[in-house]
Amino acid sequence: MIKYWDYKYEYKGLKRNILNLVNKVFSSGSLLLGKELKNFEKNFCKFNNSKYGLGVANGTDALYIALKSLNIKKGDEVITVSNTAIPTVAAIINSGATVKFVDIGEDYLMDVNKIERLINNKTKVIIPVHLYGQTCNMDKILLIAKKYKLKIIEDCAQSTGAMYKNKKAGIIGDIGCHSFYPTKILGAYGDGGFITTNNKRLFEKMHRFRFYGIDTLGTFKKWKNKYYSIDHGINSRLNEIQSSILNLKLKNINSYIKKRRIIADKYFKNLKNIGLELPIINKNNFHVFHIFEVAHPKRNLIISRMKKKGINLSIHYKYPVHKMNAYKNINKKKLSYLNETEKKCKKNFSLPIYPGLRNNEINKIIKNLKEIIKKI
Ligand SMILES: Cc1ncc(COP(=O)(O)O)c(C=O)c1O
Repeated sequence: MIKYWDYKYEYKGLKRNILNLVNKVFSSGSLLLGKELKNFEKNFCKFNNSKYGLGVANGTDALYIALKSLNIKKGDEVITVSNTAIPTVAAIINSGATVKFVDIGEDYLMDVNKIERLINNKTKVIIPVHLYGQTCNMDKILLIAKKYKLKIIEDCAQSTGAMYKNKKAGIIGDIGCHSFYPTKILGAYGDGGFITTNNKRLFEKMHRFRFYGIDTLGTFKKWKNKYYSIDHGINSRLNEIQSSILNLKLKNINSYIKKRRIIADKYFKNLKNIGLELPIINKNNFHVFHIFEVAHPKRNLIISRMKKKGINLSIHYKYPVHKMNAYKNINKKKLSYLNETEKKCKKNFSLPIYPGLRNNEINKIIKNLKEIIKKI
């Protein structure tokens, strides 16, 4: 069976190193907020060319902490897309703000030409989601944010390492939020997240927020490392085990991305002109292919036939967030405009794409997909 995603092959190669790291951390006497995290924060900032950065417990917390650092609260509005993972929206709701959904374009990303009509005096933040591994049209989003004095939080959960005009995703707007959920470009062996920013004041605030408002940086000399809450915060720590594994994997991140791009290239070359809609790669953009999203009107049949051949496919996303029970009442009356979002979710599906996928598996996926599509 070819799984949609699998880490076992990768683990085989890294097992000795990972187990050594686990032993090193357990023997070090420091399990949280220690050397491994500091080291990873330094290395991941360097990788992104970000001035500041902090590890947090997961990508959802990263978004929530970013919103809280901008004082987002009840009565404020945040613009994002409905074709995203649930956590983009959950983090906004948790901050107290209202979500305003903007439709997507042919590339499945935020349609930047439809943002301005949603802006009013309550709007505070735009969250472009760099979905599937490529960045949104950031030039246009930056222009809109400047015009209306809005902040930008980039949701980079699926696009660590992606670039827009040679700048890494996450350092273009005010704050970038990453996820190290195991399937991601830089996957931990558990949960993890990261926040990048070039703004010192926001960094210090978020740094306190992830640890009950405690100042471990020494921003307020009197309170450095005192068990004293300067401002309200939560507990969202990236632990030492995950930090050490992420440090190890970060050394290989460019080869992971290269492998994903090679697989994507094979799919592009071999699946053209067979009636399958292939991903659109935007210009000014370096795609890291977290997800290879294709589309076909008979996707359910294709998925079930591929399964019979021993190949698991997936869908990102079958239900746009505004159609889910938990969120269906958001801006209820005015959602008829999300046409493209609702159209795409009926025919899109995802092909396996991860560094551990072997050549014979890629060939099997291509061969079967072609044969199945030809017959339907
Ligand atoms: C677009 C997007 N945003 C946010 C998140 C949240 O990340 P995490 O699962 O680490 O909380 C994810 C990952 O699931 C995601 O894909």
